[in-house]
Amino acid sequence: MPAEDTMAKLVSLSKRRGFVYPASEIYGGLASSWDYGPLGVELKRNVKDAWWQATVQERDDVVGLDSAILQSPEVWRASGHVDNFTDPLIDCKKCKGRFRADDLQNQYCPEKPSKHPGECEGELTEARQFNLMFKTFVGPVEEDASVAYLRPETAQGIFINFSNVLTSSRRKPPFGIAQIGKSFRNEITPGNFLFRTREFEQMEMEFFVPPDDWERWYQEWQKTRFEWYVDLGVRRDRLRLREHGADELAHYSRACSDVEYEFPFGWSELEGIAFRTDYDLLQHTERSGKPLKFFDPQSKEHYTPYVIEPAAGCDRATLAFLCDAYTEEQVEGEERVVLKLHPRLAPIKAAFLPLVKKEGMPERARKLQQAVSRRFPTFFDAAAAIGRRYRRQDEVGTPYCVTIDGQTAEDQAVTVRDRDSMTQERVAEDQLLSFLDERIHGSLTSADG
Ligand code: GAP
Repeated sequence: MPAEDTMAKLVSLSKRRGFVYPASEIYGGLASSWDYGPLGVELKRNVKDAWWQATVQERDDVVGLDSAILQSPEVWRASGHVDNFTDPLIDCKKCKGRFRADDLQNQYCPEKPSKHPGECEGELTEARQFNLMFKTFVGPVEEDASVAYLRPETAQGIFINFSNVLTSSRRKPPFGIAQIGKSFRNEITPGNFLFRTREFEQMEMEFFVPPDDWERWYQEWQKTRFEWYVDLGVRRDRLRLREHGADELAHYSRACSDVEYEFPFGWSELEGIAFRTDYDLLQHTERSGKPLKFFDPQSKEHYTPYVIEPAAGCDRATLAFLCDAYTEEQVEGEERVVLKLHPRLAPIKAAFLPLVKKEGMPERARKLQQAVSRRFPTFFDAAAAIGRRYRRQDEVGTPYCVTIDGQTAEDQAVTVRDRDSMTQERVAEDQLLSFLDERIHGSLTSADG
Protein backbone atom coordinates (compact mmCIF):
# COMPACT_ATOMS: atom_id res chain seq x y z
CA MET A 1 0.00 0.00 0.00
CA PRO A 2 1.47 3.43 -0.87
CA ALA A 3 2.67 5.31 2.21
CA GLU A 4 0.26 8.23 1.78
CA ASP A 5 -2.62 5.74 1.65
CA THR A 6 -1.71 4.13 4.95
CA MET A 7 -1.34 7.48 6.70
CA ALA A 8 -4.55 8.84 5.16
CA LYS A 9 -6.42 5.71 6.24
CA LEU A 10 -5.04 5.96 9.77
CA VAL A 11 -5.93 9.64 10.08
CA SER A 12 -9.42 8.90 8.80
CA LEU A 13 -9.96 5.88 11.07
CA SER A 14 -8.62 7.87 14.02
CA LYS A 15 -11.18 10.60 13.49
CA ARG A 16 -14.11 8.34 12.60
CA ARG A 17 -13.66 6.03 15.59
CA GLY A 18 -12.58 8.59 18.17
CA PHE A 19 -8.84 8.13 18.52
CA VAL A 20 -7.59 11.52 17.33
CA TYR A 21 -9.36 14.64 16.03
CA PRO A 22 -7.88 17.74 14.38
CA ALA A 23 -7.62 20.38 17.13
CA SER A 24 -9.86 23.49 16.98
CA GLU A 25 -11.70 21.86 14.10
CA ILE A 26 -14.89 23.92 14.35
CA TYR A 27 -12.73 27.04 13.90
CA GLY A 28 -10.95 25.70 10.85
CA GLY A 29 -8.24 23.86 12.80
CA LEU A 30 -4.79 24.79 14.06
CA ALA A 31 -1.98 23.37 11.95
CA SER A 32 -0.47 20.17 13.31
CA SER A 33 -2.44 20.22 16.58
CA TRP A 34 -4.45 17.19 17.57
CA ASP A 35 -6.98 16.23 20.25
CA TYR A 36 -7.21 12.69 21.57
CA GLY A 37 -10.78 11.33 21.58
CA PRO A 38 -12.36 8.71 23.87
CA LEU A 39 -10.36 5.79 22.46
CA GLY A 40 -7.18 7.78 21.84
CA VAL A 41 -6.98 8.95 25.42
CA GLU A 42 -7.16 5.33 26.63
CA LEU A 43 -4.53 4.21 24.12
CA LYS A 44 -2.15 7.02 25.02
CA ARG A 45 -2.66 6.42 28.73
CA ASN A 46 -1.84 2.76 28.22
CA VAL A 47 1.38 3.73 26.43
CA LYS A 48 2.36 5.97 29.34
CA ASP A 49 1.40 3.34 31.92
CA ALA A 50 3.46 0.70 30.11
CA TRP A 51 6.46 3.03 30.05
CA TRP A 52 6.08 3.96 33.71
CA GLN A 53 5.66 0.34 34.72
CA ALA A 54 8.80 -0.78 32.86
CA THR A 55 10.91 2.25 33.75
CA VAL A 56 9.88 3.02 37.32
CA GLN A 57 7.57 0.45 38.89
CA GLU A 58 9.48 -2.70 37.95
CA ARG A 59 12.91 -1.29 38.84
CA ASP A 60 14.30 -0.35 42.18
CA ASP A 61 16.91 2.00 40.72
CA VAL A 62 14.52 4.57 39.18
CA VAL A 63 12.12 6.96 40.90
CA GLY A 64 9.50 9.30 39.46
CA LEU A 65 9.00 13.06 39.32
CA ASP A 66 6.43 15.52 38.02
CA SER A 67 8.05 18.94 37.70
CA ALA A 68 6.45 22.23 36.63
CA ILE A 69 6.17 23.20 32.97
CA LEU A 70 7.02 26.81 33.82
CA GLN A 71 10.39 27.18 35.50
CA SER A 72 12.73 30.08 36.12
CA PRO A 73 14.16 31.35 32.79
CA GLU A 74 17.55 30.79 34.40
CA VAL A 75 17.00 27.06 33.87
CA TRP A 76 16.97 27.54 30.10
CA ARG A 77 19.91 29.92 30.14
CA ALA A 78 21.95 27.40 32.10
CA SER A 79 20.89 24.43 29.97
CA GLY A 80 21.93 26.23 26.78
CA HIS A 81 18.44 26.27 25.30
CA VAL A 82 18.24 30.08 25.15
CA ASP A 83 21.41 30.24 23.06
CA ASN A 84 21.46 26.92 21.23
CA PHE A 85 17.99 25.42 20.86
CA THR A 86 17.57 26.68 17.33
CA ASP A 87 16.85 25.49 13.83
CA PRO A 88 18.08 27.29 10.71
CA LEU A 89 15.16 29.06 9.04
CA ILE A 90 14.96 30.36 5.47
CA ASP A 91 12.19 32.18 3.60
CA CYS A 92 11.31 32.07 -0.06
CA LYS A 93 10.82 35.64 -1.30
CA LYS A 94 8.45 34.51 -4.06
CA CYS A 95 6.07 31.99 -2.49
CA LYS A 96 6.57 33.28 1.10
CA GLY A 97 7.11 29.71 2.33
CA ARG A 98 9.24 29.19 5.46
CA PHE A 99 11.52 26.17 5.62
CA ARG A 100 14.10 24.44 7.74
CA ALA A 101 17.32 25.04 5.88
CA ASP A 102 18.86 21.74 7.01
CA ASP A 103 16.04 19.58 5.63
CA LEU A 104 15.04 21.07 2.27
CA GLN A 105 14.77 17.73 0.47
CA ASN A 106 11.90 16.68 2.76
CA GLN A 107 9.89 19.90 2.46
CA TYR A 108 7.52 21.11 -0.20
CA CYS A 109 7.10 24.55 -1.71
CA PRO A 110 3.45 25.75 -1.60
CA GLU A 111 3.60 26.75 -5.30
CA LYS A 112 2.59 24.18 -7.88
CA PRO A 113 4.04 22.45 -9.86
CA SER A 114 7.31 23.12 -8.02
CA LYS A 115 8.32 20.53 -5.43
CA HIS A 116 11.06 21.55 -3.07
CA PRO A 117 11.91 25.00 -1.65
CA GLY A 118 13.57 27.14 -4.29
CA GLU A 119 12.15 25.08 -7.18
CA CYS A 120 9.46 27.75 -7.71
CA GLU A 121 12.47 29.83 -8.83
CA GLY A 122 11.97 32.14 -5.89
CA GLU A 123 15.03 33.57 -4.16
CA LEU A 124 15.79 31.96 -0.80
CA THR A 125 17.01 34.18 2.06
CA GLU A 126 20.15 33.43 4.03
CA ALA A 127 19.49 30.97 6.85
CA ARG A 128 18.97 32.57 10.27
CA GLN A 129 18.78 30.78 13.60
CA PHE A 130 15.25 30.49 14.98
CA ASN A 131 14.78 29.57 18.67
CA LEU A 132 12.18 26.85 19.11
CA MET A 133 11.11 27.77 22.64
CA PHE A 134 7.66 29.29 23.15
CA LYS A 135 7.76 32.43 25.29
CA THR A 136 5.09 33.63 27.65
CA PHE A 137 4.84 36.19 30.45
CA VAL A 138 4.38 35.52 34.13
CA GLY A 139 2.05 38.04 35.75
CA PRO A 140 -0.03 40.81 34.19
CA VAL A 141 2.79 42.86 32.62
CA GLU A 142 4.27 41.81 29.31
CA GLU A 143 7.85 42.94 29.76
CA ASP A 144 11.24 41.31 29.36
CA ALA A 145 11.63 40.86 33.11
CA SER A 146 8.56 38.61 33.26
CA VAL A 147 9.43 36.32 30.33
CA ALA A 148 9.04 32.60 30.96
CA TYR A 149 9.42 29.68 28.56
CA LEU A 150 7.20 26.67 28.02
CA ARG A 151 9.60 23.81 28.59
CA PRO A 152 10.97 22.27 25.38
CA GLU A 153 11.96 19.06 27.21
CA THR A 154 11.04 17.55 30.57
CA ALA A 155 14.68 16.69 31.28
CA GLN A 156 15.70 20.01 32.87
CA GLY A 157 13.02 19.66 35.56
CA ILE A 158 14.84 16.49 36.55
CA PHE A 159 18.35 17.99 36.64
CA ILE A 160 17.32 20.92 38.82
CA ASN A 161 15.74 18.49 41.30
CA PHE A 162 18.78 16.23 41.43
CA SER A 163 19.72 17.15 45.03
CA ASN A 164 16.11 17.10 46.25
CA VAL A 165 15.60 13.56 44.99
CA LEU A 166 19.03 12.39 46.10
CA THR A 167 18.47 13.45 49.69
CA SER A 168 14.73 12.75 50.03
CA SER A 169 14.87 9.27 48.53
CA ARG A 170 18.40 8.35 49.71
CA ARG A 171 19.65 7.24 46.30
CA LYS A 172 23.14 6.78 45.01
CA PRO A 173 24.41 6.37 41.45
CA PRO A 174 23.59 4.39 39.42
CA PHE A 175 20.00 5.58 39.75
CA GLY A 176 17.45 7.33 37.57
CA ILE A 177 14.69 9.93 37.76
CA ALA A 178 11.82 9.53 35.32
CA GLN A 179 9.09 11.89 34.25
CA ILE A 180 6.23 12.02 31.77
CA GLY A 181 4.80 15.34 30.69
CA LYS A 182 4.03 17.92 28.05
CA SER A 183 6.76 19.75 26.18
CA PHE A 184 6.45 22.52 23.62
CA ARG A 185 8.52 23.45 20.58
CA ASN A 186 7.72 26.04 17.96
CA GLU A 187 8.68 23.62 15.17
CA ILE A 188 9.24 25.21 11.76
CA THR A 189 7.97 22.16 9.91
CA PRO A 190 5.60 20.09 12.04
CA GLY A 191 3.72 17.31 10.26
CA ASN A 192 3.07 13.64 9.56
CA PHE A 193 0.06 13.50 11.88
CA LEU A 194 1.23 12.92 15.50
CA PHE A 195 4.88 12.55 14.50
CA ARG A 196 6.00 16.17 14.84
CA THR A 197 3.76 18.65 16.61
CA ARG A 198 4.32 21.84 18.59
CA GLU A 199 2.79 20.46 21.78
CA PHE A 200 3.63 16.87 22.66
CA GLU A 201 4.26 14.56 25.57
CA GLN A 202 7.63 13.14 26.47
CA MET A 203 8.61 10.14 28.57
CA GLU A 204 12.14 10.88 29.75
CA MET A 205 14.53 9.39 32.24
CA GLU A 206 17.88 10.73 33.42
CA PHE A 207 20.08 7.90 34.67
CA PHE A 208 22.97 9.14 36.85
CA VAL A 209 26.05 6.93 36.81
CA PRO A 210 29.63 7.01 38.10
CA PRO A 211 31.64 8.61 35.25
CA ASP A 212 33.76 5.53 34.54
CA ASP A 213 30.67 3.38 34.12
CA TRP A 214 28.81 5.35 31.44
CA GLU A 215 29.53 3.07 28.48
CA ARG A 216 28.00 0.02 30.14
CA TRP A 217 24.79 1.93 30.95
CA TYR A 218 24.67 3.54 27.51
CA GLN A 219 24.64 0.04 25.93
CA GLU A 220 22.24 -1.28 28.55
CA TRP A 221 19.63 1.44 28.02
CA GLN A 222 19.78 1.09 24.24
CA LYS A 223 18.87 -2.57 24.59
CA THR A 224 16.23 -2.01 27.26
CA ARG A 225 14.45 0.71 25.34
CA PHE A 226 14.56 -1.17 22.02
CA GLU A 227 13.06 -4.27 23.61
CA TRP A 228 10.27 -2.24 25.24
CA TYR A 229 8.74 -1.63 21.81
CA VAL A 230 9.16 -5.28 20.84
CA ASP A 231 7.54 -6.44 24.10
CA LEU A 232 4.56 -4.27 23.26
CA GLY A 233 4.12 -5.97 19.91
CA VAL A 234 6.04 -3.78 17.44
CA ARG A 235 7.56 -5.89 14.66
CA ARG A 236 11.28 -6.23 15.25
CA ASP A 237 12.06 -5.79 11.55
CA ARG A 238 10.44 -2.36 11.60
CA LEU A 239 12.74 -1.19 14.39
CA ARG A 240 16.42 -0.33 14.29
CA LEU A 241 19.04 1.44 16.37
CA ARG A 242 21.01 4.19 14.67
CA GLU A 243 24.08 5.82 16.18
CA HIS A 244 24.32 9.57 15.52
CA GLY A 245 27.16 11.02 13.52
CA ALA A 246 29.19 13.74 15.28
CA ASP A 247 27.48 16.43 13.17
CA GLU A 248 24.02 15.39 14.40
CA LEU A 249 24.67 15.59 18.14
CA ALA A 250 22.69 18.09 20.24
CA HIS A 251 24.68 20.73 22.11
CA TYR A 252 24.54 18.71 25.35
CA SER A 253 25.42 15.20 24.19
CA ARG A 254 28.63 13.36 23.39
CA ALA A 255 26.95 10.27 21.94
CA CYS A 256 23.40 9.43 20.98
CA SER A 257 21.60 6.49 19.49
CA ASP A 258 18.07 6.63 18.12
CA VAL A 259 15.50 3.88 18.18
CA GLU A 260 13.94 4.30 14.75
CA TYR A 261 10.71 2.88 13.38
CA GLU A 262 9.85 2.33 9.74
CA PHE A 263 6.80 4.59 9.52
CA PRO A 264 4.79 4.60 6.27
CA PHE A 265 6.72 7.81 5.44
CA GLY A 266 10.11 6.18 6.09
CA TRP A 267 12.55 5.36 8.88
CA SER A 268 12.27 8.03 11.59
CA GLU A 269 13.25 8.61 15.19
CA LEU A 270 11.06 7.19 17.93
CA GLU A 271 13.34 8.04 20.79
CA GLY A 272 16.92 8.97 21.53
CA ILE A 273 19.28 7.43 24.06
CA ALA A 274 21.83 10.14 24.76
CA PHE A 275 25.06 10.29 26.71
CA ARG A 276 24.78 13.77 28.25
CA THR A 277 27.99 13.54 30.32
CA ASP A 278 27.93 15.86 33.36
CA TYR A 279 26.99 18.80 31.12
CA ASP A 280 23.62 19.66 32.67
CA LEU A 281 24.53 19.18 36.33
CA LEU A 282 27.65 21.31 35.86
CA GLN A 283 25.78 24.03 33.98
CA HIS A 284 23.17 24.29 36.74
CA THR A 285 25.84 24.15 39.43
CA GLU A 286 27.64 27.04 37.84
CA ARG A 287 24.59 29.23 37.23
CA SER A 288 22.72 28.55 40.48
CA GLY A 289 25.78 28.40 42.71
CA LYS A 290 24.34 25.21 44.26
CA PRO A 291 26.60 22.18 43.87
CA LEU A 292 24.79 19.25 42.24
CA LYS A 293 27.11 16.46 43.27
CA PHE A 294 27.10 13.10 44.96
CA PHE A 295 29.19 12.38 48.02
CA ASP A 296 30.66 8.90 47.74
CA PRO A 297 31.06 7.59 51.30
CA GLN A 298 33.62 5.01 50.16
CA SER A 299 36.07 7.29 48.42
CA LYS A 300 35.03 10.20 50.70
CA GLU A 301 34.86 12.41 47.62
CA HIS A 302 32.19 14.48 45.91
CA TYR A 303 31.71 13.85 42.21
CA THR A 304 29.33 14.93 39.45
CA PRO A 305 27.66 11.89 37.92
CA TYR A 306 27.42 11.33 34.18
CA VAL A 307 23.99 10.94 32.63
CA ILE A 308 22.45 8.47 30.20
CA GLU A 309 19.10 9.71 28.96
CA PRO A 310 16.46 7.60 27.21
CA ALA A 311 14.01 10.24 25.89
CA ALA A 312 10.87 9.00 24.16
CA GLY A 313 7.88 10.78 22.66
CA CYS A 314 4.54 9.52 23.81
CA ASP A 315 2.61 10.75 20.78
CA ARG A 316 5.26 9.40 18.43
CA ALA A 317 5.19 6.01 20.17
CA THR A 318 1.38 6.03 19.97
CA LEU A 319 1.63 6.71 16.23
CA ALA A 320 4.12 3.86 15.80
CA PHE A 321 1.86 1.45 17.71
CA LEU A 322 -1.07 2.49 15.51
CA CYS A 323 0.91 2.16 12.26
CA ASP A 324 2.26 -1.23 13.28
CA ALA A 325 -1.16 -2.50 14.33
CA TYR A 326 -3.07 -1.33 11.25
CA THR A 327 -3.92 -4.38 9.13
CA GLU A 328 -6.18 -5.05 6.18
CA GLU A 329 -7.09 -8.71 5.60
CA GLN A 330 -9.38 -10.74 3.39
CA VAL A 331 -11.81 -12.79 5.46
CA GLU A 332 -14.44 -14.90 3.72
CA GLY A 333 -14.25 -12.75 0.62
CA GLU A 334 -14.59 -9.51 2.59
CA GLU A 335 -12.00 -7.02 3.69
CA ARG A 336 -11.58 -6.62 7.41
CA VAL A 337 -9.64 -3.76 8.97
CA VAL A 338 -8.13 -4.72 12.28
CA LEU A 339 -5.89 -2.89 14.72
CA LYS A 340 -3.68 -5.64 16.08
CA LEU A 341 -2.70 -3.65 19.14
CA HIS A 342 -1.03 -5.46 22.01
CA PRO A 343 -3.83 -6.27 24.50
CA ARG A 344 -2.16 -4.07 27.10
CA LEU A 345 -2.39 -1.09 24.78
CA ALA A 346 -5.88 -1.73 23.40
CA PRO A 347 -8.27 1.01 24.54
CA ILE A 348 -11.13 -1.46 25.16
CA LYS A 349 -10.15 -4.88 26.45
CA ALA A 350 -13.48 -6.67 26.07
CA ALA A 351 -16.75 -5.92 24.28
CA PHE A 352 -19.99 -7.45 25.59
CA LEU A 353 -22.35 -8.44 22.83
CA PRO A 354 -25.75 -10.02 23.53
CA LEU A 355 -26.59 -12.14 20.48
CA VAL A 356 -30.13 -10.75 20.31
CA LYS A 357 -32.00 -8.04 22.20
CA LYS A 358 -34.36 -10.44 23.98
CA GLU A 359 -34.61 -13.45 26.30
CA GLY A 360 -32.72 -11.55 29.01
CA MET A 361 -29.48 -11.58 27.01
CA PRO A 362 -28.82 -7.80 27.17
CA GLU A 363 -29.41 -7.76 30.95
CA ARG A 364 -27.10 -10.71 31.46
CA ALA A 365 -24.45 -9.11 29.27
CA ARG A 366 -24.71 -5.84 31.23
CA LYS A 367 -24.28 -7.65 34.53
CA LEU A 368 -21.18 -9.48 33.32
CA GLN A 369 -19.78 -6.30 31.82
CA GLN A 370 -20.23 -4.46 35.10
CA ALA A 371 -18.19 -7.06 36.95
CA VAL A 372 -15.38 -7.00 34.37
CA SER A 373 -15.32 -3.19 34.02
CA ARG A 374 -14.05 -2.86 37.58
CA ARG A 375 -10.84 -4.32 36.23
CA PHE A 376 -10.72 -3.33 32.52
CA PRO A 377 -12.23 -0.78 30.14
CA THR A 378 -15.14 -2.55 28.43
CA PHE A 379 -17.82 -1.75 25.87
CA PHE A 380 -21.44 -2.85 25.42
CA ASP A 381 -23.02 -3.16 22.00
CA ALA A 382 -26.39 -4.69 21.23
CA ALA A 383 -27.03 -3.06 17.85
CA ALA A 384 -26.64 -4.71 14.42
CA ALA A 385 -25.75 -8.22 13.30
CA ILE A 386 -23.08 -9.97 15.33
CA GLY A 387 -20.63 -10.07 12.41
CA ARG A 388 -20.82 -6.30 12.02
CA ARG A 389 -20.34 -5.80 15.72
CA TYR A 390 -17.19 -7.97 15.61
CA ARG A 391 -15.84 -5.88 12.73
CA ARG A 392 -16.47 -2.65 14.61
CA GLN A 393 -14.44 -3.97 17.54
CA ASP A 394 -11.69 -5.30 15.24
CA GLU A 395 -11.29 -1.84 13.78
CA VAL A 396 -10.55 -0.28 17.19
CA GLY A 397 -8.35 -3.14 18.35
CA THR A 398 -10.56 -4.76 21.04
CA PRO A 399 -8.80 -8.08 21.72
CA TYR A 400 -11.82 -9.98 23.06
CA CYS A 401 -15.52 -10.03 22.21
CA VAL A 402 -17.79 -11.76 24.70
CA THR A 403 -21.06 -13.04 23.23
CA ILE A 404 -24.00 -13.90 25.42
CA ASP A 405 -26.32 -16.27 23.55
CA GLY A 406 -29.38 -18.48 24.08
CA GLN A 407 -27.31 -21.20 25.67
CA THR A 408 -25.77 -18.91 28.31
CA ALA A 409 -28.84 -19.12 30.56
CA GLU A 410 -28.55 -22.92 30.46
CA ASP A 411 -24.83 -23.54 30.82
CA GLN A 412 -23.72 -20.25 32.47
CA ALA A 413 -21.03 -19.87 29.81
CA VAL A 414 -20.24 -17.27 27.14
CA THR A 415 -18.39 -17.31 23.84
CA VAL A 416 -15.11 -15.39 23.78
CA ARG A 417 -13.81 -14.45 20.34
CA ASP A 418 -10.15 -13.65 19.82
CA ARG A 419 -9.56 -10.59 17.62
CA ASP A 420 -6.50 -11.86 15.73
CA SER A 421 -7.21 -15.55 15.20
CA MET A 422 -11.02 -15.04 15.19
CA THR A 423 -11.29 -18.37 17.03
CA GLN A 424 -14.05 -18.76 19.59
CA GLU A 425 -13.93 -20.42 22.96
CA ARG A 426 -16.63 -21.24 25.49
CA VAL A 427 -15.80 -19.84 28.93
CA ALA A 428 -17.79 -20.20 32.18
CA GLU A 429 -19.20 -16.87 33.33
CA ASP A 430 -17.56 -17.15 36.74
CA GLN A 431 -14.18 -17.78 35.05
CA LEU A 432 -14.42 -14.88 32.61
CA LEU A 433 -12.54 -12.31 34.64
CA SER A 434 -9.58 -14.55 35.34
CA PHE A 435 -9.62 -15.78 31.71
CA LEU A 436 -9.34 -12.20 30.41
CA ASP A 437 -6.89 -11.16 33.10
CA GLU A 438 -4.53 -13.97 32.23
CA ARG A 439 -4.66 -13.21 28.53
CA ILE A 440 -4.22 -9.46 28.88
CA HIS A 441 -1.57 -9.43 31.57
CA GLY A 442 -0.27 -12.88 30.73
CA SER A 443 0.26 -11.61 27.22
CA LEU A 444 2.83 -9.22 28.64
CA THR A 445 4.60 -12.04 30.45
CA SER A 446 4.62 -14.25 27.39
CA ALA A 447 5.87 -11.37 25.20
CA ASP A 448 8.64 -10.98 27.75
CA GLY A 449 9.71 -14.45 26.75
N1 GAP B 1 15.66 15.58 26.54
C1 GAP B 1 16.12 15.17 25.27
C2 GAP B 1 15.18 15.45 24.20
O1 GAP B 1 14.20 16.16 24.38
P1 GAP B 1 14.71 14.97 21.69
O2 GAP B 1 15.31 13.95 20.77
O3 GAP B 1 14.67 16.37 21.22
O4 GAP B 1 15.51 14.83 23.04
C3 GAP B 1 13.00 13.24 22.61
O5 GAP B 1 13.24 14.51 22.07
C4 GAP B 1 11.80 12.61 21.96
O6 GAP B 1 10.67 13.47 22.08
C5 GAP B 1 11.95 12.38 20.46
O7 GAP B 1 12.63 11.18 20.17
C6 GAP B 1 10.51 12.32 20.01
O8 GAP B 1 9.95 11.03 20.25
C7 GAP B 1 9.84 13.31 20.94
N2 GAP B 1 9.69 14.61 20.25
C8 GAP B 1 10.60 15.58 20.12
N3 GAP B 1 10.11 16.60 19.42
C9 GAP B 1 8.84 16.27 19.08
C10 GAP B 1 7.80 16.92 18.35
N4 GAP B 1 7.94 18.14 17.85
N5 GAP B 1 6.61 16.27 18.20
C11 GAP B 1 6.43 15.03 18.74
N6 GAP B 1 7.37 14.39 19.43
C12 GAP B 1 8.57 14.99 19.62
